Amino acid sequence: MLVKPGNSYCGEHANQEPCLPNDDSSNWAALRVPCPLDGKHTVLKSKLATHLTKCAAQPTKRPDYCQEGINIPQPRTETTIDKPLTIGGIEDERLMAVIGKVERVYVQTVHGKITTKILCHEALTEELTQSFYGPSVLKHLKQNASLLGLLEKSNLLQDDSIFVEFGSGRGLLTYWLTQAVPNANKCDFILVDRASHRHKFDNKLREKKEFSIERIRTDIQDLCLPNVPAIQSSDKGVVGVSKHLCGAATDLTLRACQQLEQGRLKGLMIALCCHHRCVWNLFAGCSYLQDLGFLAEEFSLLCGLTSWAICGSGKPRNTKDKEVNVSEGVSDLPDVNPFDCRYDRLELPRERREFIGLKVKRIFDIARANYVTKTLGLKAELFFYCHPDISPENLEKMKSVIFLAFFCGIALSLASVQPKPKDETVCSMCRLVMALLTDAISNPENEQDVIDFVYSLCPIVMPNNTVECEYMISTYGDDLLHFIVDMELSAEDICTTLTACP
Ligand SMILES: C[S@@+](CC[C@H](N)C(=O)[O-])C[C@H]1O[C@@H](n2cnc3c(N)ncnc32)[C@H](O)[C@@H]1O
Ligand SMILES: [Zn+2]
Ligand SMILES: [Zn+2]
Repeated sequence: MLVKPGNSYCGEHANQEPCLPNDDSSNWAALRVPCPLDGKHTVLKSKLATHLTKCAAQPTKRPDYCQEGINIPQPRTETTIDKPLTIGGIEDERLMAVIGKVERVYVQTVHGKITTKILCHEALTEELTQSFYGPSVLKHLKQNASLLGLLEKSNLLQDDSIFVEFGSGRGLLTYWLTQAVPNANKCDFILVDRASHRHKFDNKLREKKEFSIERIRTDIQDLCLPNVPAIQSSDKGVVGVSKHLCGAATDLTLRACQQLEQGRLKGLMIALCCHHRCVWNLFAGCSYLQDLGFLAEEFSLLCGLTSWAICGSGKPRNTKDKEVNVSEGVSDLPDVNPFDCRYDRLELPRERREFIGLKVKRIFDIARANYVTKTLGLKAELFFYCHPDISPENLEKMKSVIFLAFFCGIALSLASVQPKPKDETVCSMCRLVMALLTDAISNPENEQDVIDFVYSLCPIVMPNNTVECEYMISTYGDDLLHFIVDMELSAEDICTTLTACP
């Protein structure tokens, strides 16, 4: 606003002018009152009513689907935590006692309960063969392909569905969902993220105006799912999806889904990440952890232990950060670990710490899966759904311990429908290819040669079905090598373990 000649303030702030006797401007200032919406500026008293209708400080009405803190549970008064425990702040003895508890609980509740399902979806088959993609893009595409494969296997890629992507980022998963469902124009797609992202994939789709796509910018803690217009205005089934939903956002999402009326939620698939960002008051698996003997005050310590899983690689920090940023969030460990002497004393070398971190993550996942089964009326299952980056170091780990090989991600896939019966063709093909492979592997120069060799068998073994044969090798190839090398399994055992056969 302009400042009147001779005045120090603009009209809006004119009542702050010093009052001079018989001065016109002070009389003028006296006619102004502070705006009731924002006392930092003033308005002419006579124009107040009109001003209030257009004042910039007017509160913007939030849509009905945003209700502050609706998914934040009541604080657990019985477990108020005075001083959260941290790795650096507790005595050695207490640290080792909690680690002991983690080891016991892991064997008791997790070991052998998580299966590996690295799948693919035909919507991405062509994209995955594009030679111009670098390893990082390919990695994300493969993750999306596997997640879509899991959705398909759970009968969740169906018309007349509303797909909600939580923590959607740029919306790549939704983009591929629109390509993977039978008729995207019969579905609705909703993307939820609290941040504003540039170069969103849904922009491309919206331009085409073929599908119903809505992006909601809100924190999931405020999301009132039943009030989202597409959900409110129809009775289509809702399917929740997410790839890399950080820490507490997963718990908030579970609570958001709980608001839907019974039977409305058809399925939920969440690829979990950033366990170090979980929060006790939001965590969905608290009762489960407490039943297993963990104390509320130990939760922050457990979160700290999960960062051992992604930070103990021993690689230089730059490389480490790059990887962590992609799928697991950022860690703040310094280059030189000040706890190294302590870890030597406690016999906690890097490898062991990594295992402990992974075990805590899986305990958290099982605790949440348990919550889902109890509260959402869905059968919850956990799957390892993708490989880590193939680097010499990871290959080493894959050979020694199967479960460590897939630590880059884990999907929490929940479906209310029964999986399809096993396909006989896939099973017999699996057995045939495995038998040939077991022979070929007796003296391999390297693993890739063996895989290439098996690919070359497809036209001979399956002349009428080479595409499916190759698809199966690309899906199961890496897995089966490690089973064969490490466990000396038969072709039959391998196919059962890989779930290709009943
Ligand atoms: C690790 S990124 C994953 C992005 C994307 N799904 C992908 O796979 O590339 C996590 C995303 O979740 C969003 N997010 C995290 N916590 C959230 C919350 N409480 N409410 C809404 N969005 C959240 C972040 O803004 C970010 O875009
Ligand atoms: Zn105003
Ligand atoms: Zn994350």
